[in-house]
Amino acid sequence: MATTTDFKAWAAAHQQRIETQLQAVLPSPEVAPPRLHQAMRYAVLGSGKRVRPLLAFAAGEITSADPARVAIAGAAVELIHAYSLVHDDLPCMDDDVLRRGKPTCHVEFDEATALLVGDALQSLAFQLLSEYRVADDTAVQLEMLKLLAAASGSRGMAGGQAIDLAAVGASLSLPELEFMHIHKTGAIIRAATLLGAHCGSRLEERAQAKLDHFAKCIGLAFQVVDDVLDTEANTATLGKTAGKDAQQNKPTYVTVLGTAESKKLAAGLREDALAALEGFGGRAQRLRELADFIVLRKF
Ligand code: IPE
Ligand code: IPE
Ligand code: MG
Ligand code: MG
Ligand code: MG
Repeated sequence: MATTTDFKAWAAAHQQRIETQLQAVLPSPEVAPPRLHQAMRYAVLGSGKRVRPLLAFAAGEITSADPARVAIAGAAVELIHAYSLVHDDLPCMDDDVLRRGKPTCHVEFDEATALLVGDALQSLAFQLLSEYRVADDTAVQLEMLKLLAAASGSRGMAGGQAIDLAAVGASLSLPELEFMHIHKTGAIIRAATLLGAHCGSRLEERAQAKLDHFAKCIGLAFQVVDDVLDTEANTATLGKTAGKDAQQNKPTYVTVLGTAESKKLAAGLREDALAALEGFGGRAQRLRELADFIVLRKF
């Protein structure tokens, strides 16, 4: 049985690996146009929990994937995530000034640059996934591109963000709230997990469905916990402004279900996620630990 310390060491090593990968694929700050490249590096490098690449590495352990391939796939997902944060923070969206303990991209640079940072990070993600070989089979690699595109687009993250903005000041039913969260956050987390697995040997259909179910459960749990932390944690711990959802009149799990029920829901999703991994044995240890981290985290 791996201990907590083992997980911490594993996570730290893989966070470092993804940091190095991101450093390498982001254009250097001197390359023209320097200001855009500086802003891209500012938005991506140096911090962030890197949960999505960690999920990719952990899922890759199930399929004996080459970590060098998973690093590319994980970096691609993290670039999409970083782009989504830069745009999420813009005045036309959540209007946030603090992200990952630093001024948001548009505050440090300017709004037009932040817009372009998002555009360019998204393109870079797909460039990586098409330029490097991440699966033995070209058809699988194409499937991976499609998976990330679908997860990012109007029927994935971008669509979820549209629903989020349209819901300001409104009250949502529980199914509507779940739909929003599954899209704005769950889709990319699911993609990260499946992409990691796709870097390795092919899973049989039932195992693939189990992994998918795991990913969907923790994807939703992640945003439920984010909603709770927005009300319970402080700005210094979060590295982003606490209390923003209430300030902006956003419907969240906390406003719809209350804090205690939201925590119960997250705990239940963790149980479901862990149950989905039962057949995988020791190979899924890191995924189990990540499910625990996602639900029990304090930041
Ligand atoms: C924040 O994501 C945005 C959501 C989808 C809730 P994270 O909590 O993963 O942010 P970082 O990457 O660690 O900064
Ligand atoms: C953000 O949700 C989801 C995406 C960036 C796609 P939130 O708006 O709740 O994220 P935070 O709380 O600003 O990190
Ligand atoms: Mg938002
Ligand atoms: Mg936000
Ligand atoms: Mg939030």
